[in-house]
Amino acid sequence: MKRIFRSFHPILVLILLLIHGGCKEEFVQGRRLYEGNCAGCHMHDGTGLADITPPLYESDYLKANIMQLPCIIRYGLFDTILVNRIIFTDFMLGYPKLTDAEVSNICNYIAYRFLQDPTPSFSPRMVKALTDSCRAHQHHPSMPLLRDSVRMFQSI
Ligand code: HEC
Repeated sequence: MKRIFRSFHPILVLILLLIHGGCKEEFVQGRRLYEGNCAGCHMHDGTGLADITPPLYESDYLKANIMQLPCIIRYGLFDTILVNRIIFTDFMLGYPKLTDAEVSNICNYIAYRFLQDPTPSFSPRMVKALTDSCRAHQHHPSMPLLRDSVRMFQSI
């Protein structure tokens, strides 16, 4: 046992500590951004609000569409969806100002906290690739009129 400890190179320990510290920081930012931007509607514990705001906690919709999460955050959702057997018809605006790193930290926070994913693995690069691919068809084209009028309203 002692030998194992002795053979643990101090630099290696330092690197591990730095990596761990870095991860924690990202998690804390993810939580802060969730609390500041999403919790008002989806609630702090992710349980949503009746049939108005869908839950993120144990959401079967989100589990099945987890790779869409960065696109939902960046571009919003303008659709009629079924989440845990409840139909939701409202819409959610996107957050185009959040950076790839910020979106990735929110995604990891949500996957870890609400979907009990032990090792959520979104990265800023992945967020960029995913959101670039959904930008072309602007995600959920089922209600383009509503989406466009909301945009027009926002730009007034
Ligand atoms: C103003 C209220 C509001 C805010 C703020 C909000 N949402 Fe939503 N969100 C909704 C509504 C309403 C829907 C359903 C949209 C639909 O039916 O097309 C939704 C749907 C979703 C969904 C897909 C359905 C589900 O529950 O699995 C996800 C994921 C989601 N939101 C994540 C987020 C995240 C992350 C944030 C913060 C960055 C956020 N939302 C901020 C209201 C909101």
